[in-house]
Amino acid sequence: MHQVLFIGQLYQDTILYMDAYPNEDSKVRARDMEQRRGGNIGNTAEVLAQMRQIQPWCMSALGSQQESIPLLALLTEAGIETKLCLYRTTPLPSSFIIQSAQGTRTIISCNKTKEIDVNEFIAQVEPVLQAERFAWIHFEGRNIDGVFKQIDWLRQQQQQDWKISIELEKPDRPDIDQLLPKGDVLFFSRLFAEARGYSQPEGFLRAMAPKCSPKAVLYCTWGEQGASCLSQHQLFQAPAPKVQAVDSVGAGDTFIAGVIYGWQQQWSLQKILENACLLATHKVVQVGFSGLS
Ligand code: FRU
Repeated sequence: MHQVLFIGQLYQDTILYMDAYPNEDSKVRARDMEQRRGGNIGNTAEVLAQMRQIQPWCMSALGSQQESIPLLALLTEAGIETKLCLYRTTPLPSSFIIQSAQGTRTIISCNKTKEIDVNEFIAQVEPVLQAERFAWIHFEGRNIDGVFKQIDWLRQQQQQDWKISIELEKPDRPDIDQLLPKGDVLFFSRLFAEARGYSQPEGFLRAMAPKCSPKAVLYCTWGEQGASCLSQHQLFQAPAPKVQAVDSVGAGDTFIAGVIYGWQQQWSLQKILENACLLATHKVVQVGFSGLS
């Protein structure tokens, strides 16, 4: 069994399915609504939990233990280990998502939770490392100072055969570039690349590479145009099949699951990329994350 640890922010998502994005100050009805567990790491972990031989773990700060029960139950039901989660007195991080029939998804999140600091991280993770061997440890690129120190601590541990990956999705996080040299694998979003002035992934990845570890493998997703990967100056590209999106929440998170799965299968970089794009495409043409194995 490959143990994969995810550190980031879990959310409770409420998704409203609308024919169109509403006008400001209007009163409208949604066609449908759904509540599910969310957060980038939760989405990625739920997809991976469906793959054979992979056991995902999520580590996140949540609301109170009582308030977090339904969310934890959903994670456990999906096969995700939650015992590294921490509880706070602030409200459970929540997102309200407007999914329009035009294919757009507008996410409004509220998160007042204190991030996990390095001491809390060590106190939770150290005892588990005695018993479990993690094959892969993935961080959301948030809580920059905390993640920086957490990775430094992991790099000092005896067991070093895990890969460390970092997702850089939101461009507006100050100091996020400090995380670039820290990962063996880096996942960038199109939003991140565009905010740096790039209109296609290749130029962006080539500009990022010198800031990353020389052996790092860099991925950048580009929505309906697929994704690219750069490894030691070599560029790989994969298209995404043309489809009508019905639920695009978590497409990038699903892509990450596809990449981690492909690495565990020891596929070539090109095959990993193509399969991750296909998996993300399967996700957007269906509601939710089940049935993706
Ligand atoms: C989708 C998502 C949602 C979550 C929000 C947090 O990528 O992870 O599930 O509510 O983004 O930013």
